[in-house]
Amino acid sequence: MTNDLSQKLTAASGGSHLNFETGELSREAAAEGCVLLINDGTLPLKKDDVISAFGRCQLDWFYAGYGSGGDVNAPYYVNLIDGISNAGGRINAEVLSAYREWTLRPENKTEKCEWGQWKESYPEMPLDKELVRRSSAESSVAMVVIGRCCGEDKDFSLKNGSYYLNNEELDMLDKVTAVFDKTIVVLNFSSLIDMSWVEKYKGKISALLLAFCGGMESGNAVADVLYGDVNPSGRLSDTIPRNFEDYPFNNKPVCAAGVFEDNNKDCYKAEKSNLPLNRTYEDDLNIKYHEGIFVGYRYFEKFAADKILFSFGFGLSYTKFKTEKVSFAYNAGTEEKDGVVKMSVSVINSGSCAGKKAVGIFCRQGGKRLLKPERVLAAFSKTKLLAPGEREMLDFSVPLEMIASFDEKICSFVIEKGKYVFEADETYLGEIEFSQDIVVKKCIHACMPDVDLKNRILENLPKDEAISGGEVKSFGEVINNPSLLHNFVAGLSDNELEAITRGQGMMDSCYGESGNAGAFGGITDSLRKKGIPAVITSDGPSGLRLNRYASLIPEGNLLACTWNILLTEKLYSRIATEMKHYKIDVLLGPGLNIHRNPLCGRNFEYYSEDPLLSGLMAAAAVRGIQSLGASACPKHMICNNLEKNRNLYNANVGERALREIYLKNFEICIREGKPKVLMSSYNKVNGLYSHYNYDLFTTILRKEWGYDGLVITDWWMKSAYSPEFPLMRDNAYRVRAQVDVLMPGGTSYDTDFEGSDGTLLEGIDEEGHITRAEIRRSAYNVLKFIMGSFKENRLT
Ligand code: BGC
Repeated sequence: MTNDLSQKLTAASGGSHLNFETGELSREAAAEGCVLLINDGTLPLKKDDVISAFGRCQLDWFYAGYGSGGDVNAPYYVNLIDGISNAGGRINAEVLSAYREWTLRPENKTEKCEWGQWKESYPEMPLDKELVRRSSAESSVAMVVIGRCCGEDKDFSLKNGSYYLNNEELDMLDKVTAVFDKTIVVLNFSSLIDMSWVEKYKGKISALLLAFCGGMESGNAVADVLYGDVNPSGRLSDTIPRNFEDYPFNNKPVCAAGVFEDNNKDCYKAEKSNLPLNRTYEDDLNIKYHEGIFVGYRYFEKFAADKILFSFGFGLSYTKFKTEKVSFAYNAGTEEKDGVVKMSVSVINSGSCAGKKAVGIFCRQGGKRLLKPERVLAAFSKTKLLAPGEREMLDFSVPLEMIASFDEKICSFVIEKGKYVFEADETYLGEIEFSQDIVVKKCIHACMPDVDLKNRILENLPKDEAISGGEVKSFGEVINNPSLLHNFVAGLSDNELEAITRGQGMMDSCYGESGNAGAFGGITDSLRKKGIPAVITSDGPSGLRLNRYASLIPEGNLLACTWNILLTEKLYSRIATEMKHYKIDVLLGPGLNIHRNPLCGRNFEYYSEDPLLSGLMAAAAVRGIQSLGASACPKHMICNNLEKNRNLYNANVGERALREIYLKNFEICIREGKPKVLMSSYNKVNGLYSHYNYDLFTTILRKEWGYDGLVITDWWMKSAYSPEFPLMRDNAYRVRAQVDVLMPGGTSYDTDFEGSDGTLLEGIDEEGHITRAEIRRSAYNVLKFIMGSFKENRLT
């Protein structure tokens, strides 16, 4: 960031909370998340290379995905052309002025669209062959910039200009590559789209750089990589297949030994059709996760290796690295299940320029009973910037649980008898032969349609925790003496209990900074009189979404490609300073759903097809956000893998896939990041809306994982009666599951409703209804959270 910008920033924001360091870190991360997919030596460029830049996105860059996850008022935006000129690079003036002139014409301008009506791309400038020819005579290299953007409530569709390139873009590639000897293609994608065209232009594209959406510093960051001021070290967080049809959710895996055994039949009762590419509305509402655990590289490497265009973890550098084994040891714990595999590798920069190297530890799991992927990511780390000849040791530690498989028959994570081989990417490190099965963790059968939920809930109803010692009237007393919290909760009236388990009712609460996402806690006069403060929430994962200036940092999808945990944590600790400045208590992020389907509009917010990469990156974000006392709110738990019908569809997921993939990312994030708040998803999982899902939020989250924080809904929820307790509905049904707070208040998905809707207290303590003890339990969760925040953070 230039000093000039830094000054503007401070002036615009009225303070030093948006400062130079945030911009610098954003730039560093945006550059580190760029993935270099092809390079014949054309990159890095020299500063005196003259670039002819084609494609409107060189000016109309997409900085973030659409919707709550990207809607940040950044104090400035650096597009690619500005980035190149800030770097002192040279641009062909004739081509640039043609693009400037054309993109500024009223009929060609990009527009600010209504919610969900955003454009995945804008029409390209029709390219004049003569202009291309003339410019080739005056430039050393061509650069083609192609952009795509999707977002919340806006999936990609299988159309030109959306998931596919459009004819004008292909025409641009044709015309440019026909004339130029060297063509660099820069991809400004919010998340992956079709890449089949790359094969068509094989040999004609000299360098292909996947730059994603890098936030306000995008152009500077990409220029850093183009000129080699930053050596690319990004690695793909997803597999790129040859074609959309190759994705596993389109294909029931068929293995050499026969048909992939699908143990999840129970989940698919509602299935109507088996033709995923010819889906009906019914199919859209009942999405069968028939690929099981075989998501992303787990599928491709085992069943369809020939369909991989760029593998998971792929990414080129301007230098070379050698990875060597230093040590490998298995420390069996006192109990076998506590065993840990310890490995050290040495990474040497054997090339001629400085660079960083991310190393992935993969495990090839043994055992024959449960079908396994070829390999799974078990750990990863990244070196510092290594000078040529310099080396660094990286240490890894993999607990058995990380490489165990979920055995549905015994509802446990197991290490199957057999050989487990460990590799640092392609470097063999060692192996362990397990002579018998080891049960690493026993679980409770949960979130499945055949669970007797009614009895489980009744058997585990909470007892009232009200204790003797008298009523505690003020929350201030509790702050000074936390042991009084149960008594304080016991003293709340039913109306107060009702109000504490929902938000104020609308977004942009009067208690918080303009543009906030809503408030909960002290949101009625009576609660406020008791000294309970309002808790202010704000989106989101790419920076604060307020009617105020805030830093727009790179999207999660890009951050995942950095494979850099420390950098991600540091970056989010800068967002923490902005939260403090604007008095925001809860940041509604990070998003960490699994990239199952590339069409999902929110893949830009989410990290990866792999649960470990997703979970550890999210944990890093959480630690950064919470570093100054405020709270993160990882979302959306679980299976928000498409935006279309997000508040209607039912994810039919087998138990093994739930455990190894869709819950694993959250489990890791919670264990490593310790978020204080979590957000449920809109969709159903195995027939149940997440916000009513007792097994998800009580059986698994709190009992099995020991989470003791708060759970809030995504914004509004679907109205429904409980099938197990037909007298209970909506807020009672939700609170019974320990989804503690309905945000931002109101009931149904599209109701902006203030006040109580009456559904929580209906028939309280009567047969078949919610108990007061359950409501108090959620009130306790809310107030315990506020108590912690009160101590560590500012609250209004
Ligand atoms: C989104 C959430 C977001 C919330 C508040 C919802 O529609 O799904 O991710 O945090 O709105 O803006």
